[in-house]
Amino acid sequence: DKIAAPNAYARASETANYVRSKLPEALQKPKVAIVCGSGLGGLVDTIEAEPKVELPYSTIPNFPKSTVQGHAGNFVFGLIGPQKTPIALLVGRAHFYEGHTMELVTFATRLCKLLGVETMIVTNAAGGLNENYEVGDIVCLNDHLNLAGLVGIHPLRGPNIEEFGVRFPPLSDAYDLDLRRRTHRAWKKLGLDQQKRRIHEGVYAFVGGPSYETRAECRMLRLLGADVVGMSTVPEIIVARHAGVRVLAFSLVTNKAVLDAGVRGNDDSIQAMSKAELDEHLNKGKANHQEVLDAGREAAKDMQALVKQIVSDLHED
Ligand code: ADE
Repeated sequence: DKIAAPNAYARASETANYVRSKLPEALQKPKVAIVCGSGLGGLVDTIEAEPKVELPYSTIPNFPKSTVQGHAGNFVFGLIGPQKTPIALLVGRAHFYEGHTMELVTFATRLCKLLGVETMIVTNAAGGLNENYEVGDIVCLNDHLNLAGLVGIHPLRGPNIEEFGVRFPPLSDAYDLDLRRRTHRAWKKLGLDQQKRRIHEGVYAFVGGPSYETRAECRMLRLLGADVVGMSTVPEIIVARHAGVRVLAFSLVTNKAVLDAGVRGNDDSIQAMSKAELDEHLNKGKANHQEVLDAGREAAKDMQALVKQIVSDLHED
């Protein structure tokens, strides 16, 4: 990882000017930015048809290019809800595991700040570590474990960019309590509490990926206090908070982490298994990318309705 280049602010400013030049007056100052995680890009369909501007990431100067299947990259500007709140949607994001620097992973966040965004809603697909969570549940994040950051792989490493924020920003209040209260109110208002899917509050552990966790790593993360685990979000949250942007974050639980230790090869019952039985046994609970995308599709509508309601309510006061 390279340290943040000294002209990171200049690059973000240049891109902000470019983006503004592509937007009609009504869309030039988005109040809320929403980062859409894997399979959660459907929010695009909930904004007004006009005016709407879609900028493919590949056309935006300085923007990182997405390399993952299922993570198409589009920066979409439009109006949402009865009050026609101007918003920016980031459909697809740059992940650290793709090889991007932390500066690039968080580039869109800083760009949003320069465009005038006050509140950022970040969504992701994550593995459930908390035993009470089911696939399809939604977790409103109230804290995180930045495992990479604790050892120095951190988006704010390098000379501090004073234009954005202070050298040593606090993160004890990173996950805005007012926004979390609004979330649970919106959830009830929409009647989502009457359905099978539940909403929780929990702690997100950021891991580098791209491999999913081993069983031992899942148990370690659970012991450390994590409720969900994923490969994104935390760098964006930190950079947003550094720049004074309010943050709300949601994980969609797309798979359950395997918390039991597995079996030993010298166990009699395992010794007696056929190859087919062994395969079936080993595949139980194994995380895969398709499963992550499928769970996203089913739960996405509720998540979208929730985000839309929160944004609409925000505008009221
Ligand atoms: N994204 C979705 N599921 C995940 C998992 N189990 N670990 C990390 N990232 C994930």
